[in-house]
Amino acid sequence: MDIVTIHNVKKYFGKGPRQVRAIDGVSLSIEKSRFTAIVGASGSGKTTLLNLIGGLYEPTEGTVIVDGIDLSVLTEEQLTIFRRRKVGFVFQDYNLVPELTIRENILFPLALDDSCPDQMFFAQIVEALGLKEQLDRFPYMLSGGGQQCTAIARALITKPSVVLADEPTGSFDARTSQNVAGLLKMTAETFHQTLIMITHNQELAQLADRVVRLQDGRVVPSAAP
Ligand SMILES: Nc1ncnc2c1ncn2[C@@H]1O[C@H](COP(=O)(O)OP(=O)(O)OP(=O)(O)O)[C@@H](O)[C@H]1O
Ligand SMILES: [Mg+2]
Repeated sequence: MDIVTIHNVKKYFGKGPRQVRAIDGVSLSIEKSRFTAIVGASGSGKTTLLNLIGGLYEPTEGTVIVDGIDLSVLTEEQLTIFRRRKVGFVFQDYNLVPELTIRENILFPLALDDSCPDQMFFAQIVEALGLKEQLDRFPYMLSGGGQQCTAIARALITKPSVVLADEPTGSFDARTSQNVAGLLKMTAETFHQTLIMITHNQELAQLADRVVRLQDGRVVPSAAP
């Protein structure tokens, strides 16, 4: 089953001679519970594509359907709710709230939604990501890897339709990158999550079930088997 369907999507920034065709006619289906890596040179449109799937950008043309929802029909308010409930974002720079503890950061998306945490699920995620002893600490007290694990836990806690990670290990050394990407893959698998991860790192891309390569805003057809 496909959880994401993108049909002939274009995303242009600006107008006239300075217009940038960041995504220039992409059609793509992503299967549920699979791990897809998006690779490509800097400026090839990776982040733009991820942001279109996450409902952060509106396409110039084409349709994006996530978990059966056509994003083009949603109002601003519905899009905000979509992003909160259906998408788990993991960014390179974690985006944790410095004044909140690790526990509060993880539970933050649920608090925004006034929903109660599933305590057992919370405990499982925290255990899997090695955060059990860190819950009452603040983000600055953790290593970069620990902070990114917190962001991963926060992305998983809502049981979203898709987890979108934009170079989640971009600021780490090779070993920490492998560890954090391995944890991201392992938790996505354990909790049957669909994971889409942008990476520049060939080794990390190989962890994925499928690699989608972008070039100049288009998908490079994969070589025939
Ligand atoms: N908000 C924006 N306004 C104008 N141009 C943009 C905007 N976002 C992206 N672009 C342009 O669109 C193109 C694709 O950018 P995008 O950030 O998607 O690339 P990327 O593959 O993620 O690159 P990187 O690997 O450097 O993160 C680039 O030419 C970029 O300058
Ligand atoms: Mg990018």
